[in-house]
Amino acid sequence: MNSLLNLRALRVTLQTRRGPVLVLRGIDLDLAEGEALGIAGESGSGKSTLASTIIRTLPIKGEISGSISFRGRDLLAIDPVEMRGIRGRDIAIVFQEPSFDPLARIGQHIAEVLKAHRMTEGVAARVEELLVLVGLDPDVASAYPHRMSGGMLQRAQLAAALAARPSLLIADEPTSAIDAVLQTQLLDLLSSLRTRLALSVILISHDLSVISRFCQRIAVMYAGRIVEEGAVCDVLSTPLHPYTALMLRASRFEGSGGVGSAPDMFSLPAGCAFRERCPRRLPACDSRDVELCRKDGRAVRCVHYE
Ligand SMILES: Nc1ncnc2c1ncn2[C@@H]1O[C@H](COP(=O)(O)OP(=O)(O)O)[C@@H](O)[C@H]1O
Ligand SMILES: [Mg+2]
Repeated sequence: MNSLLNLRALRVTLQTRRGPVLVLRGIDLDLAEGEALGIAGESGSGKSTLASTIIRTLPIKGEISGSISFRGRDLLAIDPVEMRGIRGRDIAIVFQEPSFDPLARIGQHIAEVLKAHRMTEGVAARVEELLVLVGLDPDVASAYPHRMSGGMLQRAQLAAALAARPSLLIADEPTSAIDAVLQTQLLDLLSSLRTRLALSVILISHDLSVISRFCQRIAVMYAGRIVEEGAVCDVLSTPLHPYTALMLRASRFEGSGGVGSAPDMFSLPAGCAFRERCPRRLPACDSRDVELCRKDGRAVRCVHYE
């Protein structure tokens, strides 16, 4: 498979009101053409920051270092105008909460994306085609967002994201605000679109079951780093990193004793960021900064597997 996206030593410092904080602490990740990659991790682990870094729309001021190569082009080296062309046309993103201007009709929202990418011919027909593509009635084009349910808005958001025919779709917690039945429908829709449109997808979710249903590969993030990566079936059947095992137990409701809470990114201790919560902690975890070790298509960052 051809490589589509390659992240190397990606580090992001956000300038927050509390001061600078290193939110992504060296991410290496590859996505092949046509692949569905899941990014898992609890709230605050840096998943959304990773998504916004790839499309260069950080929520606040920040510094990015390392490299983001998309089809061989370094996205960190190109100018903002060119990046605007890539955003939407090559790489699109959908979020947990669709944000639509309440005063514009759904069709106008989708048409805006087409216009932004100079796709100005047959706009009305294309808008209808996109609505049908995501399983909505073409009449939805004339509806205002407040008339639509959460599930419909999620589909409309997808239609707008796919308007300029991107090859990579980043979906950031797309199913986290909708109920289980709608979740399944949306995942089914995403699966069929992925095949029909030859899309590559990065699906971000704190929910391992969502990732297991949709993705071939998974990367687990903890405190701004990837701690485990591999084929979904391998990682979820035999998790190596204690954090992955903990997430898995929590998702199966097998008790959450000693789960603890996410670390404060402003005062990360030296050594392993997970050690305070880790049932397999060793003395070396207090000081040793373990690399992500790769073997047989899997990767893990833990002193037990060095
Ligand atoms: N808009 C923001 N303002 C201040 N801090 C932010 C902002 N966005 C992210 N962060 C910081 O970056 C860290 C990672 O956040 P985020 O990428 O949103 O994680 P996730 O999507 O995994 O929940 C958090 O610890 C948070 O403090
Ligand atoms: Mg997030």
